[in-house]
Amino acid sequence: MSLSFSGQVALVTGGAAGIGRATALAFANEGLKVVVSDVDVAGGEGTVELISAAGGEAIFVRCDVTRDAEVKALMDATVATYGRLDYAFNNAGIEIEKGKLAEGSEAEFDALIGVNVKGVWLCMKHQIPLLLAQGGGAIVNTASVAGLGAAPKMSIYSASKHAVIGLTKSAAVEYAKKKIRVNAVCPAVIDTDMFRRAHEADPKKAEFAAAMHPVGRIGKVEEIASAVLYLCCDGAAFTTGHALAVDGGATAI
Ligand SMILES: NC(=O)c1ccc[n+]([C@@H]2O[C@H](COP(=O)([O-])OP(=O)(O)OC[C@H]3O[C@@H](n4cnc5c(N)ncnc54)[C@H](O)[C@@H]3O)[C@@H](O)[C@H]2O)c1
Repeated sequence: MSLSFSGQVALVTGGAAGIGRATALAFANEGLKVVVSDVDVAGGEGTVELISAAGGEAIFVRCDVTRDAEVKALMDATVATYGRLDYAFNNAGIEIEKGKLAEGSEAEFDALIGVNVKGVWLCMKHQIPLLLAQGGGAIVNTASVAGLGAAPKMSIYSASKHAVIGLTKSAAVEYAKKKIRVNAVCPAVIDTDMFRRAHEADPKKAEFAAAMHPVGRIGKVEEIASAVLYLCCDGAAFTTGHALAVDGGATAI
């Protein structure tokens, strides 16, 4: 199956690194104009440079997804630059926990829910009016396999990703007849800075990481990017409200 897109403009939050950068590059490789957004200015501009070097078109817009006014300004900048928004990958996220539930702090809870849940909600809140005005589009939110089941020593993160799936399913049903599709991608362990930071904090995690996937390895960022592009493309026109595990079989066990 070849991917086909009706629209021209894709937005990626958390686009400075990891899964977001790989997906921004993949959108650009399909000929889409890409708005790369992140709080990490150097990383975001680096993604734009990679896209430009490969012959693609992109801009960077700094945005903290926890700030309503900044998210609104991001959508305004997207329309001001490219005239429209067709596909949004709401991917910015953090993981900062180091212990079991009773060892967590209020600050950790507020930060995790702020970025991972409020951030996705604010992005959709400001994207959906644009998509309604244009007659449709597709949104993909980054959840996790931690949003599909338990995640020991990551309980707040797990709750935040369950919430992302709740937002995704509810929005999908609310706007299904308006030709706006909303899906979530649920990666297992993917080789990114987030994984490497967790690995440094707890070396045992790395030992378990490969073994928890039936395929015998952790995932690559490109393997999430291709799932996101599928969920956005016209071939997925009948797919909405779905939480797609991209996990090397981890949730099949
Ligand atoms: N790496 C994994 O194993 C894995 C597994 C499942 C889900 N995920 C999810 O995938 C997404 C991407 O993670 P990654 O592994 O590429 O991590 P990453 O740390 O490499 O990238 C996350 C990006 O989000 C940005 N970000 C953080 N807070 C932000 C904010 N308030 N506003 C805007 N941008 C912000 C960071 O600057 C960073 O560039 C996250 O939502 C994460 O929870 C990752």
